[in-house]
Amino acid sequence: MKIGIIGGSGVYNPDMMGNVKEVKVETPYGMVLPLMGEAEGHEVVFLPRHGTGHSVPPHRINYQANIWGMRALGVEAIIATAAVGSLNPEMAPGDSVFVDQFIDFTKNRRQTFFDGRENGVAHLDFTEPYCPALRKTMAAAAGELRARPGAEFAFHEKGVYICTEGPRFETPAEIRAYALLGADVVGMTSYPEVALAREAGICYATIAMVTNLAAGMAGGRLTHEEVLEVMAKNNSTVWAMLQKTLEKMERVYAAEACTCQEAGRDFTKVFGHIFGENQ
Ligand code: HPA
Repeated sequence: MKIGIIGGSGVYNPDMMGNVKEVKVETPYGMVLPLMGEAEGHEVVFLPRHGTGHSVPPHRINYQANIWGMRALGVEAIIATAAVGSLNPEMAPGDSVFVDQFIDFTKNRRQTFFDGRENGVAHLDFTEPYCPALRKTMAAAAGELRARPGAEFAFHEKGVYICTEGPRFETPAEIRAYALLGADVVGMTSYPEVALAREAGICYATIAMVTNLAAGMAGGRLTHEEVLEVMAKNNSTVWAMLQKTLEKMERVYAAEACTCQEAGRDFTKVFGHIFGENQ
């Protein structure tokens, strides 16, 4: 099976991959330069979302090119990572959340492949926005890692991710409002990545790593350095979870039924000829 990993803030080096080579994928939205290799018996495509050296801010990420590139390479499932702030006192810095819902508060992003004219129009179901089979696999992986002697981390099997436009952090008033809306964690990148993956018929789920309490909740100021510092501290946990999830894909994920690929039927139809050229 071919599996994509989209690395968020602080997740840049796929040391667990063997036979790594850089590939170039032309897409109608621009070029993508992922790394391809192998891990745990799978072909893996790794893409650091913010580019090398974290040079692309959340609102300028070419989400369409990234997801198109994954699809053109034949990726069937994407595991993404994301640094998030927590609005939920039960989700502490260092905890992982396998989010199951999102609230979209972005403002200015291209969020669909179906933008009319020759690309058609589509209104997909988002009752289960993150692939339930992948989330279950991640939870099984995390559970197994936590059972190891000396393992010290907590994870949550669900949570609501509110996606803001950024690049600034939120005001405490915004965070109070988002908490009233039911958000557990806040970040700037899950949307529209999750929606585009569904359109393309790719299973998609996220390991959200809590790096901080959201603005106003801890009293102090918030910095990007603090986010990166906590990510660095938990880097090995995130990679261990990714690796264990890959290891469990055959048994857990394959045994679950999800409808993510079915949702991509129209996409395959409309873009089939272009994929044909890329594959
Ligand atoms: N807000 C938005 N994005 C984030 C945060 C936050 O508090 N922490 C990490 N990414």
